[in-house]
Amino acid sequence: MVDGVLELRGIQKRYGSRTALEALDLEVRAGQVVGLLGPNGAGKTTAVKVLLGLVRPTAGDGLLFGHALSDPKARARVGYLPELFRNPAWLTAREVLGYHAELLGLAPATRAAEIDAALANADLSSRADDLVGHYSKGMQQRVGLAVALLGRPAFVVLDEPATGLDPIGREELRGAIRGLREQGTSVLLNSHQLSEVEQVCDRVTILHEGRVLADGPLGDLLRPGGVRVHVTGLAWPLPSALDRYGPVELDGDALAFRAVEPDGVPALVATLVELGASVHSVEPIQPTLEERFRQLLHVPSGGSA
Ligand SMILES: Nc1ncnc2c1ncn2[C@@H]1O[C@H](COP(=O)(O)OP(=O)(O)O)[C@@H](O)[C@H]1O
Ligand SMILES: [Mg+2]
Repeated sequence: MVDGVLELRGIQKRYGSRTALEALDLEVRAGQVVGLLGPNGAGKTTAVKVLLGLVRPTAGDGLLFGHALSDPKARARVGYLPELFRNPAWLTAREVLGYHAELLGLAPATRAAEIDAALANADLSSRADDLVGHYSKGMQQRVGLAVALLGRPAFVVLDEPATGLDPIGREELRGAIRGLREQGTSVLLNSHQLSEVEQVCDRVTILHEGRVLADGPLGDLLRPGGVRVHVTGLAWPLPSALDRYGPVELDGDALAFRAVEPDGVPALVATLVELGASVHSVEPIQPTLEERFRQLLHVPSGGSA
């Protein structure tokens, strides 16, 4: 694990008869932003708690910065934003950070500068001395982010950081995560929503009911699922010349050719034109995460599910 930050191998976690995680492998390398994606109950928070040593796995093991997960040294360079975390409304952001700086044992001489840096990285500098209770939800969530960034951790773990944020808050959060990547900080980002991870993650692991459904660069996992063609002048039922392009569905006022890959588009368009149709547009069908889940779940046994 030369440049490894985190390596989980075969993690299983059972709560009584319920299996929260089954055979989870997860790797984060230095400087990577990795997304852990899955619906509620998939096991994302459990995975985070296991890697932080807050929950002991039933089976499997791992290394965090080369230390066993149960070793407190493993966590020394990790910043953590827990799920649904709320800071005290009666403190200012600077006071919240002061409290955490003390808990972290940051050297008193550099504490103020560290707090300023964390506030700046979470884009809170201009409101640092206002009460947290007077902040918008997005700003309150960024206080949690600032706490996670305190002391410049090499690895930041964010559990559903976008919960409760409006679109602007989400964009600001993405900006903060991109800033971390630029500084070389590794990030693990939990989310139940694809849109939160797709623009910032180098890699994603998709979890479902405690199991890894898929793992890799998001672009590979969400390859377009065919093409949608806006076409007029075709007779119905569709001419048999289209049979070779696989199943066709009516999709609004367009036709969806689910089996056509990008390099098959020119031939499809040529056939449509030969049939006397007018092609107005052709666009890739971008699967939503939910559609992709369904596809992945239909992978025959022996596949990656
Ligand atoms: N402390 C616990 N006791 C019993 N079951 C738990 C506990 N924590 C989580 N679970 C169960 O484990 C599964 C995974 O939960 P969690 O890791 O919180 O999922 P996610 O973060 O993806 O929503 C769920 O079925 C949840 O109910
Ligand atoms: Mg969770």
